[in-house]
Amino acid sequence: MLRVEDIHTYYGASHILQGVSLEVGEGEVVALLGRNGAGKTTTLRSVIGLTPPKRGRILFKEKEITGARPHAMARLGLSYMPESRGIFPSLSVQENLTLVEGRRKGPWTLAGVYELFPRLRERRENGGAQLSGGEQQMLAIARSLLLNPELLILDEPTEGLAPIVVRDIRERLRLVKESGMTILLVEQNFRFATRLADRVYVLGKGAIQWSGTAQEIIADETVQQTWLGV
Ligand SMILES: Nc1ncnc2c1ncn2[C@@H]1O[C@H](COP(=O)(O)OP(=O)(O)O)[C@@H](O)[C@H]1O
Ligand SMILES: [Mg+2]
Repeated sequence: MLRVEDIHTYYGASHILQGVSLEVGEGEVVALLGRNGAGKTTTLRSVIGLTPPKRGRILFKEKEITGARPHAMARLGLSYMPESRGIFPSLSVQENLTLVEGRRKGPWTLAGVYELFPRLRERRENGGAQLSGGEQQMLAIARSLLLNPELLILDEPTEGLAPIVVRDIRERLRLVKESGMTILLVEQNFRFATRLADRVYVLGKGAIQWSGTAQEIIADETVQQTWLGV
């Protein structure tokens, strides 16, 4: 569904991604792992057009989308949840959701995301700013789902969350996966990522240093120590 071919991405003169290639197949959950500063967010931003690569290609459903405008991505079927979560703190939970509901046809509805996250239904009249970190994360995921993407891209959905909330988010995302959603996930939380993902890529020194199945990386302590510091 997504193919990233040898991309080179810069911030000013800093050559951050030095030939990153990866693929995400339909229905797969793929995790992109790497140390802090490895370039994980930059890879997602390259895909979504926020920091277009200077070299290389990005294909979505066999069609080249390299350098397409970020606002065109949702219509094409890519939904990106940034690390900052991107919810509107001054709007209520329900307003945050109805803002994106119906923009693109597909199976996810307001009722559907409330069923996935009952907590959000309870909190629907609350402002985004009154939510706990976990609730904000649920709202951000719910918003992404309401865009009815074919590829859901998540940047560190567990960042700053308590272990019990992390487990809850993982179980909800497992249901999303079982619904057939294709997911590209960036994570620092190795356990979370390897329990959810089918396949894993490890980013280091601006390039992919390792790739394989979740089971393979769980068993490979050398890779974990060399590139993740787990
Ligand atoms: N807006 C920016 N301007 C300049 N350098 C940046 C910017 N954002 C990130 N970087 C640098 O790019 C590198 C990769 O960052 P990032 O993709 O955010 O890493 P990760 O998400 O893996 O933690 C880091 O060295 C970081 O300091
Ligand atoms: Mg990041």
